[in-house]
Amino acid sequence: RKKKMSIIIERYKDKVSALPKINNGLCKYEGFWYAHGFWLNDSNANFSVEAIMALQDEFQALPTDVFLASHAKSGTTWLKALSPHDYVPFIETESFLNNPSYANGLMATHMSYTSLPKSIINFGCRIVYICRNPKDVFISSWHFMKKVKDEFSAPMDDAFESFCSGVNPNGPYWDHVIGYYKASLERPNNVLFLTYEDLIKDTKNEVKKLAKFIGCPFTSKEEDDRLVQEIVNLCSFEKLSEVNKVNQNSTTTKKVLSNDIFFRKGIVGDSANYLTTELIQIIDNITKEKFDGLNIAF
Ligand code: A3P
Repeated sequence: RKKKMSIIIERYKDKVSALPKINNGLCKYEGFWYAHGFWLNDSNANFSVEAIMALQDEFQALPTDVFLASHAKSGTTWLKALSPHDYVPFIETESFLNNPSYANGLMATHMSYTSLPKSIINFGCRIVYICRNPKDVFISSWHFMKKVKDEFSAPMDDAFESFCSGVNPNGPYWDHVIGYYKASLERPNNVLFLTYEDLIKDTKNEVKKLAKFIGCPFTSKEEDDRLVQEIVNLCSFEKLSEVNKVNQNSTTTKKVLSNDIFFRKGIVGDSANYLTTELIQIIDNITKEKFDGLNIAF
């Protein structure tokens, strides 16, 4: 029996072959760059453009569904942990596409706002978006790619250039953020816009905001009983990175995305330790220009 992802890749072969491509394995679809076909290794086609196309054709959201959306490396894992479900699957993965019913109403995605399956928008499903300072997103992504597969990752200077020109998975980063940001202004009851930096600064308050938005507000008794603080502690970087530690001897190339890979430093501003003043200036200028007139602060 052919696996679901192989069938999907075959189904969209012609559509994908007509898309603009670049030699690092990305193609441009509806204004954003995504992987296509099988990538990283032969069995991993998660987050590829074909998965997005299949979701657009097949996925039927329920009005009660909630989606946690983000550009990769913006704090998705943390947001997922802080949410009141044990497991929050990414919708653009083979396991989800094989069995969408196991989602239990709370799902995650990295796709752009414009490419979301129409039923998510039409039903007014709630969407929580987490955004992060692009410099830290870039540094976090670079380390991530290096860990995932060393030979697959570009030298930092090349990766920086690609990121700044928008050519990275889910990129252009700025357009990704702007899509959800504008939606949060137009449909504030449906789209909540959070930042990693606010989450670091006042986790408790942001968690209360999140809980209220997704329809599970804390009661004042729960707040008095320190329940919110307990959740915050359980989801802290220290706690999560500890429980997700894996055997260092295990072959990470086989287990492509072992849990510990999602925890590196968990701080704001680590990019200053890697980027020169000149590079910081370049990326800050892009941010200033792209976010001009928008109230997006990190
Ligand atoms: P760094 O690489 O800067 O440390 P994503 O989950 O979207 O892939 O984002 C990963 C980033 O979130 C990594 O950033 C990771 O360390 C950070 N992160 C993961 N869990 C966290 C937590 N509980 N608190 C703060 N940051 C966290």
